[in-house]
Amino acid sequence: MSNLTRSSVWQALSAHQIEIREQTMRNLFANDANRFDKFSLREDGLLFDFSKNLITEETLALLINLARQSNLSDWIERQFNGEKINTSEARAVLHTALRSPRDCSVLVDGKNVIPDVHRVLEHIRRYSDAIRSGATLGHTGKKIRHIVNIGIGGSALGPLMACEALKPFGSDDLTAHFVSNVDATDIAETLKKLDAETTLFIISSKTFTTQETLANAHTARAWLVDHLGTEQAVAKHFAAVSTNLSETSKFGINPENVFEFWDWVGGRYSLWSAIGLPIALYIGMENFERLLAGGHAMDEHFRNAPLEKNMPVILALLGIWYGNFFGTGSYAILPYDQYMQHFPAYLQQLEMESNGKRVDREGKPVDYDTHFVVWGAPGTNGQHSFYQLIHQGTRMVPADFLAPLTSHNPIGEHHAMLLSNCFAQTEALMLGKTESEARAELVAQGLTGNALEALLPYKIFPGNRPSNTLLFEKLDPYTLGRLIALYEQKIFVQSVIWNINAFDQWGVEFGKQLANKLLPELRSKGTVNTHDSSTNNLINIYRNRHIA
Ligand code: F6P
Repeated sequence: MSNLTRSSVWQALSAHQIEIREQTMRNLFANDANRFDKFSLREDGLLFDFSKNLITEETLALLINLARQSNLSDWIERQFNGEKINTSEARAVLHTALRSPRDCSVLVDGKNVIPDVHRVLEHIRRYSDAIRSGATLGHTGKKIRHIVNIGIGGSALGPLMACEALKPFGSDDLTAHFVSNVDATDIAETLKKLDAETTLFIISSKTFTTQETLANAHTARAWLVDHLGTEQAVAKHFAAVSTNLSETSKFGINPENVFEFWDWVGGRYSLWSAIGLPIALYIGMENFERLLAGGHAMDEHFRNAPLEKNMPVILALLGIWYGNFFGTGSYAILPYDQYMQHFPAYLQQLEMESNGKRVDREGKPVDYDTHFVVWGAPGTNGQHSFYQLIHQGTRMVPADFLAPLTSHNPIGEHHAMLLSNCFAQTEALMLGKTESEARAELVAQGLTGNALEALLPYKIFPGNRPSNTLLFEKLDPYTLGRLIALYEQKIFVQSVIWNINAFDQWGVEFGKQLANKLLPELRSKGTVNTHDSSTNNLINIYRNRHIA
C-alpha cells in the first residue's frame, strides 16, 4: 500500500463515503437552510457554488485534512518560488511568473526571470500594435487581415480557445485561423480562404521539432512564396514563437519576428507566454494584459486564501472525492456560453496530459486512480445529446457548469432561457425524480393501470448526481484569465495529493518518436516485416497503394 492509501485520513474518507452514499442531497438541502452559504465561495465577482455535491461539513473537513497531509501549502510555495518541481525534466514550473507584475522577483538558477518576461511582453506589444495599426505591412504593402497560428497541443489549444472566448474583444479587421493537424486537409481548407498578401503565419512550437507543425509550416511557406513570387516575402509574413532559437533561424524566420519563451513554461500552460501572440494580435495588448491580470489575481487567491476558502483547492478536493472514493471515471465541463465552446477541449489537454500518470514522484506505480476522462460541450447543445447518460445512466458523472450572468448578445429572452436551462439541469441532477413524483405526473397525464406501471420505471431519475456551478458577470479577458488559472491550480493541487508530476508528458513524447520511426517504412521499397502482423499488413497495404 502507498503512504497515501495507508494514511488514516484516506481510510477515514473511505469509511465516510460508505455513510454518505446512503444520503441524498435532496435531504441535505431540506435539512439545512444554510447549505448554499456553507458550500459556496465568492471572490472578486466569481461565485463558486459547490453545494450540490454529496458532501457534509465532515466530508469537507476530511478532504481539507487530506490536503494538509500532503503538505499542500509548502508545495504551493515551491511552485511559485521556481523550485524544479518538474523533476523528470529537471525544470521549474513558472507559468505563474508569466502573469506576475513587473516588480515581482522569481529566481530560476539564481536569476530573476521577471525582467525577461516583461521584455518579451514589450516585444509582443510592439509587434501586435504595429500589425494592428498597419505600421507594419505585408510584403506588397497591404495591411495584415489574417493571422494563421500553426502549432499543436499546448501551442494551439490555448490561443484557439481564448480567441474564440474573447471574440467580442477581437479586431473587426483581423481573422484568427488555427492549423494543427498534419492531415493536409487542415491547412488546405484554411489556405483556400486566404489572400497571401494579407496573411501572417505564426509558427508556434516550444521545441520547433514537432512533426505536424513543421510539415504545416513548410507547406505554408511554399504557398506564400508561390503566391507572392519571392522568398523575400517570408520575412514580412512569418513570425515564430519558440524556445529553440537556432531552429527558428534555420527555418529562415526574421530574428526580429521571433518571440522567445523558456523551458520552465510547460506547453499546455503556455498561453500566458509568447504562445499567446495570436491572442494579443487579435484582442490587442491591453486586453491580453487583462487576461494576464486575471490569471495573477487567481494566483494571489490560491496562494493566500485559507484552504477551506480556496477555490482551486476545493474544486480539486471534490474531484478527488468522486474519482477516488466513488470511482467515477469521467468529469464533464459544461459552459453555458457559446464563446466558451473550445473550453472543454482546452481543459481536456490541460487536465489529462498533466495528471494522466501512473507512477508517483518516486517512480513507483500508484495504487489509486489518478485523472479522469475530461469532456464536454457548450449548453444547451449537450442537453440534447449526452445529458441523458448523466441523468439516467449507470455511472456518476460529476460536472462543472460555467455561466455568465450577462451576455455579450442580449437579444430578446435568449439569455434568460439559456440560464434557466443551466440552473434547471443542476437542480434536476441533484433532485432526480422519485417514484411517487413520477407516478403523480403520469396520473396527471391521465395514465392508469398497466399502462402507467409499464412506463413508470423509465420516468424515475435517481438524482444525487453532483455538480459545481461557476457564475461570473460577463466573459471578459480578466474573467477568462481567472477561470483558466483556477483550473491550472486545481490540477496542481490534485497532482500534489496524488504525489505525481503534473508537468511532464512522456506518453505524448512516445507518440512523437513512433511517428518519426514509422514514416520511412511507408516510403520504403521492400515489403515491411519488422512489426507484428497487424502493423506489417497495414503498412504494406498502404505501400502497395502508393509505392510503384
Ligand atoms: O501535445 C503534446 C505536446 O508535447 C504539448 O505538451 C506541446 O504543447 C505540444 O506537444 C506541441 O509541442 P511543441 O510546442 O514543441 O511543438
